Amino acid sequence: MRVGIAGVGRMGAAIAAHLIEAGHAVTVWNRAPEKTRPLADAGAKVASSPAELAGEVEAVVTILTNREALAAVYEGPSGLLAGEARGKLFIEMSTVQPHDEVALAEKVRAKGGIFVECPVGGTVGPARQGKLLGVAGAAKEDFARAKPLLDQMCRRVEHVGPVGAGASLKLALNLPLLVYYQALAEAYVLCRHLKLDNKWLMEFLSDTSGGPNVLKNRGPAIAAALDGNDPGTPNFDIDMIRKDLATMLAQAKASGATLPLVEKALSIYDDAANAGWGKRDGAWLPAYWPSRAQR
Ligand SMILES: NC(=O)c1ccc[n+]([C@@H]2O[C@H](COP(=O)([O-])OP(=O)(O)OC[C@H]3O[C@@H](n4cnc5c(N)ncnc54)[C@H](OP(=O)(O)O)[C@@H]3O)[C@@H](O)[C@H]2O)c1
Repeated sequence: MRVGIAGVGRMGAAIAAHLIEAGHAVTVWNRAPEKTRPLADAGAKVASSPAELAGEVEAVVTILTNREALAAVYEGPSGLLAGEARGKLFIEMSTVQPHDEVALAEKVRAKGGIFVECPVGGTVGPARQGKLLGVAGAAKEDFARAKPLLDQMCRRVEHVGPVGAGASLKLALNLPLLVYYQALAEAYVLCRHLKLDNKWLMEFLSDTSGGPNVLKNRGPAIAAALDGNDPGTPNFDIDMIRKDLATMLAQAKASGATLPLVEKALSIYDDAANAGWGKRDGAWLPAYWPSRAQR
């Protein structure tokens, strides 16, 4: 299939590399053009604008920072919707508020395109391997059209309702993880005087009732951060996490709800960013509070 990826940041690049490997004819575009180079080397065609990309492919995938990025890439003067959209499938995977996806879906449909939102759980590694967890919002027939491609990007994809439903569930599934990083930091404050091996401690906590999946997947990286060592290339950094938490708060506010744990967690992530940790992976966050509490 001819597939375009408009925006090859960390997630977009990993998805593009996977789709090239899966045998698709992939075209890419990115605002900062240097990010397209490794993909061009791997066989992708590079478009000079989102509009050009839309003209060349049957399906477009986007996974961008926020609503402003979506507006620029879809609605800009040489955006996706300035290109040929009729009959084309747009799969939108960014983490944004539901109403942003609903508004975008209307604009895509007005141009004759087919719109499926499918924000994802899982980070760069799973994206590279086609093992994301997708939560799709779409009309039934639109989801059916997107499903074969989604199945190649995701280890599991669930159709959870109309456009907007995926964004709601995506924000919900990220919430416990992002609050958990701070819960783990506070748990560590209570037991660090035991001077246990942190790798062992993460493995042990993963075997307890309060141990989430992230400890199984990222336990060694978190242990490295607690030891003051670099846990590796940042995949989901503290600044991006702050964006997700702020999106959750905005969404709750719109429905008259409050999220006190998220509010508090965001203030701590903000502190960490102010201390210069914003570009560090989230795996560093459990080390942030203990580093402050030591002072
Ligand atoms: N990282 C993760 O583990 C993860 C996991 C699941 C979901 N997500 C979600 O996936 C999305 C992307 O995350 P990421 O980690 O891949 O972020 P990233 O590496 O920072 O990439 C962001 C992409 O958005 C583009 N962009 C931002 N603002 C733009 C604008 N105004 N105009 C045009 N392009 C713009 C960037 O272009 P430039 O390169 O030119 O800046 C880049 O292609 C976010 O919504 C995030 O919440 C991330």
